[in-house]
Amino acid sequence: MPFIADRLSLIKPSPTIAISTKARELKAAGRDVIGLAAGEPDFDTPEHIKDAAKAAMDRGETKYTAVAGTPELRRAIVDKFKRDNGLTYTPEQISVGCGGKQNIYNALMATLNPGDEVIIPAPYWVSYPDITLLAGGKPVFVDCPAGAGFKMRPEDLEAAITPRTKWLILNSPSNPTGAAYTRDDMKALTDVLLRHPQVWVMTDDMYEYLVYDDFQFVTPAQVEPALFDRTLTLNGVSKAYCMTGWRVGYAAGPDQIIKAMNKIQSQSTTHTASISQAAAVAALNGPRDFIAANNAVFMERRDLVVAMLNQATGIDCPRPDGAFYVYPSCAGMIGKRTPDGATLESDADVVAYLLDSEGVAAVPGAAFGLSPHFRVSYATSTELLKEACTRIQRACSALV
Ligand SMILES: Cc1ncc(COP(=O)(O)O)c(C=O)c1O
Repeated sequence: MPFIADRLSLIKPSPTIAISTKARELKAAGRDVIGLAAGEPDFDTPEHIKDAAKAAMDRGETKYTAVAGTPELRRAIVDKFKRDNGLTYTPEQISVGCGGKQNIYNALMATLNPGDEVIIPAPYWVSYPDITLLAGGKPVFVDCPAGAGFKMRPEDLEAAITPRTKWLILNSPSNPTGAAYTRDDMKALTDVLLRHPQVWVMTDDMYEYLVYDDFQFVTPAQVEPALFDRTLTLNGVSKAYCMTGWRVGYAAGPDQIIKAMNKIQSQSTTHTASISQAAAVAALNGPRDFIAANNAVFMERRDLVVAMLNQATGIDCPRPDGAFYVYPSCAGMIGKRTPDGATLESDADVVAYLLDSEGVAAVPGAAFGLSPHFRVSYATSTELLKEACTRIQRACSALV
């Protein structure tokens, strides 16, 4: 009898881990590898946030906190939602987790019964389907191809809803495509949801501040207040505040679901680190001008990467509105032969070829549910990005 639980067979080993493991092995063997797979900013956490963490330690804030998060942090989150999104929550309607990922885990564990359906627009962030499966739910994928701007069309949402649908997960701007929903896009989706009262929306707004060219971010409960009572709004400090390692994400929603999420958390991690919570208070209440400065750099990198990838034979790279990813099509490379005589049959083959031939590590679209594409993170130095794109162009030219 195997010692490992059956539920582990429901989830797949991550293809993103496979590619980063291979990249690490090549690096260890002395190869010059450029990683374009990381989902985190290359900028350091701002000094005023680090200082707040040090001050909290010095004050002795090193003990357990409330499961849902410190009162100071929940107040800062309430203020953030009011200020940035026009949403009115009470501190009891806020739960702080160990990163945005834990909030998703808590919410799905707290709500899914066996067979409950979760609509996940594809391409998706890799964790949505697997957390759904671990919680006993059934992921229902809706294809959002490049032709639709990688966004879900209202008619496709309508067609995917069944009496078993419990959640729709939205993520704008998106990991892996950078696509972001305008107010009109979002309103078209919320109009569909108004007709289906059994469906709740989980909106993952992790990349809220990472938008370019004056794009106006919107979140579902702001666009359609009638959905407020069945919306879970997720956000966190990981990306915009350059705090991935601090592990602070937050959720806001009706008391009933927040209470249930806190119950799960009270029997797992209890809460995220007290010091990280103090740092997050400083992040949310403090100056945010560094975000605009970082975004100016990200936008320049985005434009560089889009231009250079579009010059590579066989690659077609749309220009997204947000996050720090591009999701080019590699359809024009499929079926071609490498200098070693191998035929590229999938985006996994393309990504393996880029790594083997030129030492560039990207993530295959198969990992995110829409092929043939690959994801490039431009959260790395401009110099490295230029070099990586030059190498990709060379690899494309070498195909026959
Ligand atoms: C769309 C999206 N949601 C959530 C997360 C998780 O963020 P955290 O590191 O705060 O758990 C990520 C991280 O990559 C993400 O891309």
